[in-house]
Amino acid sequence: MSQELIIALSKGRILNETLPLFEQAGIHPLEDVRKSRKLIFDTNIENVKLIIIRAVDVPTYVELGAADMGVAGKDVLMEHGAKGIYEPLDLNIARCRLMTAGMKEQKRPTGRIRVATKFVNVAKRYYAEQGVQADLIKLYGGMELAPIMDLADEIVDIVDTGNTLKANGLEAREEIADISTRLVVSQGAIKMKNSLVQPIIQKLSAAVEAAR
Ligand code: ADP
Ligand code: PRP
Ligand code: MG
Repeated sequence: MSQELIIALSKGRILNETLPLFEQAGIHPLEDVRKSRKLIFDTNIENVKLIIIRAVDVPTYVELGAADMGVAGKDVLMEHGAKGIYEPLDLNIARCRLMTAGMKEQKRPTGRIRVATKFVNVAKRYYAEQGVQADLIKLYGGMELAPIMDLADEIVDIVDTGNTLKANGLEAREEIADISTRLVVSQGAIKMKNSLVQPIIQKLSAAVEAAR
């Protein structure tokens, strides 16, 4: 029996940039993923299937081996911890920065601060490294609202153009990490499906270079 390879793609903003890269690498879904309610798609390659899931769920599928490969933001991978997930390729898409931010022209309070974020693990580590005592407040979106409503003193969030911060009267403070989207591979797939995995990495790598 021929081996099957499952690739988990992040839905949302990354997907629009991921599909052309995969197309360039010779892999495309057999139907329009944006028009379908399906979550699993056949591709032009018989033994390769795509699953399309929430960005935060991609590391879980790959770590536990339910998907062989995946596409996820470095922010999501840092937050997940990415134990036993290989990261062979920077796809150079959805570039942005993970930053701390607060109300414009307000200094960070001294002593303990309240930090709202969906990246609680990354934030906890970052503030500890800075020697700042931080109480983390887990949110799932719209972090920029938290300082306005006095739910938090600072946020940790993605900044791209800076428009969202500006529109809400916030300013970026410190950069935690440069972020881009990565190709990831499960430990199991590297061991057991390397003959399927390697050509895909190589073709995607060429597609990334061609897009530079
Ligand atoms: P979610 O619904 O989980 O926020 P998104 O589709 O908004 O998912 O984001 C997916 C990934 O895209 C993030 O993990 C991050 O790497 C990147 N990203 C998020 N926001 C931006 C942005 N404003 N500009 C560029 N890249 C972004
Ligand atoms: C992301 C991120 C910021 C914004 C940054 O939000 O969480 O709020 O984009 O981009 P900018 O600097 O170009 O304004 P998104 O639109 O993904 O909303 P979300 O809260 O649903 O993730
Ligand atoms: Mg988002």
